[in-house]
Amino acid sequence: MTIAIIGSGKVGASIALNCAIRDLDDVLLVDIVQGLPQGEAMDISHQLSEMGIDRLVRGSNNYADISDSGIVVLVAGLGRKPGMSRMDLLHTNASIVRDVSMKVASYARNSILIVVTNPLDPMTYLALKTTGMHKDKVMGMGGLLDLSRFKSFIREASNVSGESIQAMVISEHGENMLPLIRFCCISGIPLIDFISAEAQSQIFENTRKVAADVIALKGATTYAPGNAVAIMAEAIIKDKKSVIPVSALLDGEYGVSNICIGVPVVLGENGIERVIDLKLNSIEREIFHKGINSVSEAIKAIMP
Ligand code: NAI
Repeated sequence: MTIAIIGSGKVGASIALNCAIRDLDDVLLVDIVQGLPQGEAMDISHQLSEMGIDRLVRGSNNYADISDSGIVVLVAGLGRKPGMSRMDLLHTNASIVRDVSMKVASYARNSILIVVTNPLDPMTYLALKTTGMHKDKVMGMGGLLDLSRFKSFIREASNVSGESIQAMVISEHGENMLPLIRFCCISGIPLIDFISAEAQSQIFENTRKVAADVIALKGATTYAPGNAVAIMAEAIIKDKKSVIPVSALLDGEYGVSNICIGVPVVLGENGIERVIDLKLNSIEREIFHKGINSVSEAIKAIMP
């Protein structure tokens, strides 16, 4: 089996590198630009040979090559420019995601599909509906990246190892992201024993806006998204049953149906093995429902 990555730009290449250096599987990069996926594949292969990792990394401009893939990552599409929101990409990226999803349905219908293209939650829904694949096999990566940012701020403020931090981020991968301060702990010890309530509020705000800061400084986010997708691929390939946030189709959980949004799930060889229905308090519920409304509006705007 192979991990196929459709879209070999900045994030696609980072996903390929992160999957390859974890020795997860062979990797296939696909793009419409001639030469780009082949060049990225060569560059990554050269790093692997020095590391002693004997995985095959290839590039292709032919969708038929994804047919033996166990996991397909959809990361084709435009990224936001400084000052843009993820929703500003909605219509342009919807036509790319629709087109690519039809190819996935034709060539790799039995794979597990991880969507990365923004705006993440509506694009995950669009890919799910266009491919007609089972809801457990189609998910979006957004919350895990938000979580890595959240943990990075907690680590800075608490001055303890990131390994000891447990946390969760749910809701829309966008304006209504919900870092769950109330659910955080450091090796089982409540966060308040390490970080003041005021500093916690600052971390909440910083987590929600830091992606825009990175884009303003370097034009795109690259390494952390690549790492987050590789963690998801690893959970699936090794059947780890990891509890991590992904954009998943809700079917009554959180009192909502027929929408994809970030929630914690158990991720294993069958894809989404369980959606975890958290009991949110009223403030958390309000933000989560703003996320639901925002994603619903976007879905309405792109679905026929
Ligand atoms: P990029 O512009 O560097 O690469 C996009 C690639 O997609 C290009 O190489 C382009 O040729 C290719 N492409 C376009 N249409 C295609 C098609 N029909 N088939 C195959 N390839 C096609 O952009 P970058 O920075 O790699 O970002 C890609 C997407 O990932 C953006 O939508 C961005 O917003 C999103 N993103 C999502 C994150 C998340 O957490 N979910 C994090 C970071 C980026």
